[in-house]
Amino acid sequence: MKPDTISLLDEFVDLEPEIESFQDALLRGLSAKQKYLPCKFFYDETGSELFNQICELDEYYVTRTENRILEENAIEISRIIGRGCNLFELGSGSSRKVKILLDVLESPAGYTALDISKEHLIKSCAELSSIYPGIPIGAICTDYSKSLVFPFKSSEANNTVVFFPGSSLGNFDTENAIKFLGRVANLLKGSEGGFLIGIDLKKDREVLEAAYDDSDGVTAKFNLNLLIRANKELNANFDVSKFFHRALYNHKKGRIEMHLVSRISQIVSIGSNSFEFFENEYIHTENSYKYSLSQFEKMWREAGFNSSRHWCDLKEYFSVHYLKL
Ligand code: AVI
Repeated sequence: MKPDTISLLDEFVDLEPEIESFQDALLRGLSAKQKYLPCKFFYDETGSELFNQICELDEYYVTRTENRILEENAIEISRIIGRGCNLFELGSGSSRKVKILLDVLESPAGYTALDISKEHLIKSCAELSSIYPGIPIGAICTDYSKSLVFPFKSSEANNTVVFFPGSSLGNFDTENAIKFLGRVANLLKGSEGGFLIGIDLKKDREVLEAAYDDSDGVTAKFNLNLLIRANKELNANFDVSKFFHRALYNHKKGRIEMHLVSRISQIVSIGSNSFEFFENEYIHTENSYKYSLSQFEKMWREAGFNSSRHWCDLKEYFSVHYLKL
């Protein structure tokens, strides 16, 4: 990153999020009865690149369907949001989707992206500020899943709008998803604004499982990259060919589960620690919950929101909601 990149932003706040080390998480997760690893560790440089490739896959309907819903309804969404909003995006990544909104919003007071990955955040916000010179662009480096604070607000803003696309709420378990919705609701108190959020919907098992186990094997690479990462960063000796990627829809829990399954019985070392794997034993690496519209309504009501507008695609694969207090 060029040193003057930060200066392209109108505001930058580094809340210096405490980042749990990959090593602590892996040692803890592999010591548990059911081995697991939190999905946030997917996103090293290689993992982030693979995730961008996943978003382009035919089978991964999520990104393209949400983009289409936003594009087709952008004018209506912008009318509902109203003039002069102060827009905050959670986990902004490359900030691609927000362009659909920034292109149509009426005189937004500002756009602020929140993300844990500082370099990436500053780079993508600096790019946005060159595309939208008339909109004040800010960035907050933070772990929004742990603490949700907006350290600055534009005094001219009529309303605060929080944007959370990509169905990332599905990566929380349902109890924590409701708590998270509640935290956003609290943040919006006293504002005329709302919460614009993308939610992936329940659908046929075949469609879901193909989306998380694509024919080009990109999602498999994304999952297995965790083991490569452990070898590179933590002096582990995973033989990646001795594990395979599995994505299963757990109907009872309403979620896709991603696993890394051991093909054989084996012992793996991570630095001075060793872990035994039985044949077919697996590391649970991700949950991606899928909701029906009525299930999600129950969740947002429980979290303190009172009304919603929502938009879906024709097949009702995906939904975008604008929740208000
Ligand atoms: C980031 N998150 C919403 C994605 C999902 O669909 O749960 C992560 C992902 N995992 C595999 N493919 C995509």
